[in-house]
Amino acid sequence: MNITNEMINEIRNKVDIVDVISKYIPLTQKGKNYFGVCPFHDDHSPSMSVSNEKQIFTCFSCGATGNVFTFVADYEHIGFYDAVRLLGNQVGYNLGQAKVIKNKNTESYEIYDKACKFYQNNLNTALGKNANDYLEQRHIDKETIKKFKIGLSLSKTSVTDFLLNKDISLKKLVDLGISNENGTDLFINRIMFPLYDLEGNVVAFSGRIYNTKDGSKYINTKETSIFKKGNILYNYHNAKELLKKNDSIIVMEGFMDVIRASTIGIKNCIATMGTALTKQNANLLKKMADNIILCFDGDKAGEEATLSAITILKEIDVNPKVVRLEENLDPDEYILKYGKDKFKAKIDNPESSIEFLMEQHKNKKNLTDIEDITKYINESLNDLSQIDDLVLIDLTLKKMSTEYKVEYDILKNKYQEIKNNQKQKQVVVSAKKKEKYSQQELASRYLINYMLKDEKIINEVEKKVTFFPNTNTRNLANEIIYYYHKYGILNVADFISYIANNEEELKLFNEIINIKTLSEYNPEEIEDYIKVINSYPVKRKINELKDKLKEEKNPLIQANILNEILSLKGVKQ
Ligand code: UTP
Ligand code: MN
Repeated sequence: MNITNEMINEIRNKVDIVDVISKYIPLTQKGKNYFGVCPFHDDHSPSMSVSNEKQIFTCFSCGATGNVFTFVADYEHIGFYDAVRLLGNQVGYNLGQAKVIKNKNTESYEIYDKACKFYQNNLNTALGKNANDYLEQRHIDKETIKKFKIGLSLSKTSVTDFLLNKDISLKKLVDLGISNENGTDLFINRIMFPLYDLEGNVVAFSGRIYNTKDGSKYINTKETSIFKKGNILYNYHNAKELLKKNDSIIVMEGFMDVIRASTIGIKNCIATMGTALTKQNANLLKKMADNIILCFDGDKAGEEATLSAITILKEIDVNPKVVRLEENLDPDEYILKYGKDKFKAKIDNPESSIEFLMEQHKNKKNLTDIEDITKYINESLNDLSQIDDLVLIDLTLKKMSTEYKVEYDILKNKYQEIKNNQKQKQVVVSAKKKEKYSQQELASRYLINYMLKDEKIINEVEKKVTFFPNTNTRNLANEIIYYYHKYGILNVADFISYIANNEEELKLFNEIINIKTLSEYNPEEIEDYIKVINSYPVKRKINELKDKLKEEKNPLIQANILNEILSLKGVKQ
């Protein structure tokens, strides 16, 4: 059946957004609105509000906004019209089956799942004897093998044959990094550790040698469409579930370290897997927990990794804590050698990153040399200026003062000087950030926000605004005006249905509706916006477009530019 706009609005009127959303997530009423944990980002507290009156939802944290259909579409990963079908059928329409669009990666996940099960099973066969001995000797018990889905690859073509027999093409297996082009397995005779994406799908493997010495210790699946090494953190999906109760996350280098920690009940660990922490990793960690503890290997490389992780985290205003292990041990070895209690004590008493950094500066210097002491103090003050903990700052200054016999006041003044310099720099940066949108674009967005709140402003805009300078913003304003005339009313929940299939427009709409404006407009404010928008130099824009038109070869784009020029001229007279 053909689904018309009128039908969509009718269905929307028959279903209640609060009822529908509460089937997916628990909602609690607070005043006029209902609140729940937003399913569209990594939410820890209820940031999503659902309005019974307006029949829309808004997340204050991630900015997701929409009506009942876009909620169901996004939640169920189906298209907009399928969401209409799904809800329409529930209220007595017969709109045909809503087909769930398979995620484009579903097939790849299924293949990895099969491969993983295949490898797991090998461990239970006679061929798995040596591998089981190896795991046992490393104190990895059956339960842990099962939990982390550890498996075993065999010789030459076993997994490839197994998967080819399941009607999967060799090309697909090559693309996914499971097989070679000549039809042989990529992993031979290795203990297989599946690697998971952030949602917990197996998307790659890391295979460890266990009964020979030649070859590299681990080999990893190459980057594929579903495996981007810099995006994933080992054990993220498990740790994330836990962290609602726990407020710290421990970052380690190797997945073996994470696996070992889990055997002694420390489950809030993730691993970077030997590569430097990426910016993306850092942002994820920041969202996960307030407290980040870096517990890398005790060797020189682990020290370097700690330094670089502190730098990356500092850029997003996170001050991690640091645990350093003695004797070059990694967490796995440390736990095996010293036991659970000693390791727990270390994790419970991490040092601040500033202590770690100062220690680093110290190591490189001869602290009987006055020049070196001066250098050391300056470097440390610089680090200190980047943290917010006033008590820690003061204690550190006092300690430095007694240790190196420098007046406390001198240190404090120097610290203050560095701090003031930084502030000035920040002002410049934040001023630059604010210039993200031009004055006219900002005014346009505020004005459209009010158009969505009050129909009177739609009339004002029609009468007084000559031209919205930005094409996308202009199109959205035109859609609102068009819709208002067509239906005689602007219902925001229905308007969302109307633009739901235009991703770009919906995104802009979300940004605009999330601007915090007054609940009732102030006529002077509106006049000001209109003035700013109308100050846009139309003549200049026309000349720019004419130049562009001369150079453009594509007739379609030429036509668009011409249209834009005409509309500019049209509104000028
Ligand atoms: P490590 O060398 O610290 O491994 O590398 P590990 O955790 O101690 O492993 P075991 O105890 O010897 O079995 C840390 C991480 O770097 C990656 C792996 O992801 C590993 O978890 N790595 C290491 C590789 O990718 N390839 C290698 O050859 C070595
Ligand atoms: Mn190790």
